[in-house]
Amino acid sequence: MPVDVTQPHIARIYDYVLGGKFNHEADRLAAAAIVDLVPPYPRWARQNRAFLGHVGRRWAEDGRTDVLDLGSGLPTRGHFDEHLPGARVLFVDSDPLTVAQARELLAGTRGKTYLQADIRAVDALIEHAATFFGDARLLGVGCIGVAYFLSDDDLGGLMRRLHALCAPGSALALTFHEVPPGPDYEASKEALLTSARHARINFYLRTPEQVVDVVAPWRVVSRHDLDQMFPEAPPPRPEHPMHRARIHGIFAER
Ligand SMILES: C[S@@+](CC[C@H](N)C(=O)[O-])C[C@H]1O[C@@H](n2cnc3c(N)ncnc32)[C@H](O)[C@@H]1O
Repeated sequence: MPVDVTQPHIARIYDYVLGGKFNHEADRLAAAAIVDLVPPYPRWARQNRAFLGHVGRRWAEDGRTDVLDLGSGLPTRGHFDEHLPGARVLFVDSDPLTVAQARELLAGTRGKTYLQADIRAVDALIEHAATFFGDARLLGVGCIGVAYFLSDDDLGGLMRRLHALCAPGSALALTFHEVPPGPDYEASKEALLTSARHARINFYLRTPEQVVDVVAPWRVVSRHDLDQMFPEAPPPRPEHPMHRARIHGIFAER
């Protein structure tokens, strides 16, 4: 299917705000519209990718050798291939252009494969993962920067099937946005939902408690406020309605 780069795409908008070069004018215009509505978006993108790096380093220290990464985006700027050079990694993304560029970037890199698949099509995804990993089912599963694009039904179903695929001792890492309850909640939620329309994607806002429920039977063992974990960029002005919105990373166990 030909890729229409006159339409913005979330993968390339994200690449743009991370300072990458794999984006087009439509993506840059959409990014500007999103930042207008949601000023912390570029900071969240950097924090999200920084969390991915943290996860990769931690899994390397833990000696993990098999990683399934969902909604991978481009393997640039500190992705799992960099942090887990000795591991087998199955990257997955639905965007054909991202996958084509990623395959070029990964050419000649040992043990790294990039699959084009929609992670909502769980049967096909699980079949591919089972074939790729064979009997090795002690996995690290990355779901970073993508869970909030999936409905509860899609995300919950995916989590249950991954739990069944993985061996005990497997790990899950996932990020999500939170807008704590307060007078600015509705305005912040509305800004997030409207910004998602600029990226032509659905967006689902969840509380930390809802995230625990939707990832079950994975057991959440820690949650990290990424503003505290990666405080490098200043938060939005306190008078801005989005200033209390934040992004969290969780680790969960099988
Ligand atoms: C915000 S980027 C996150 C990239 C990377 N995981 C990170 O944290 O830096 C989200 C990626 O998820 C992909 N994506 C969105 N919905 C998807 C779906 N249903 N199936 C597979 N990939 C999806 C997008 O194409 C995009 O590359």
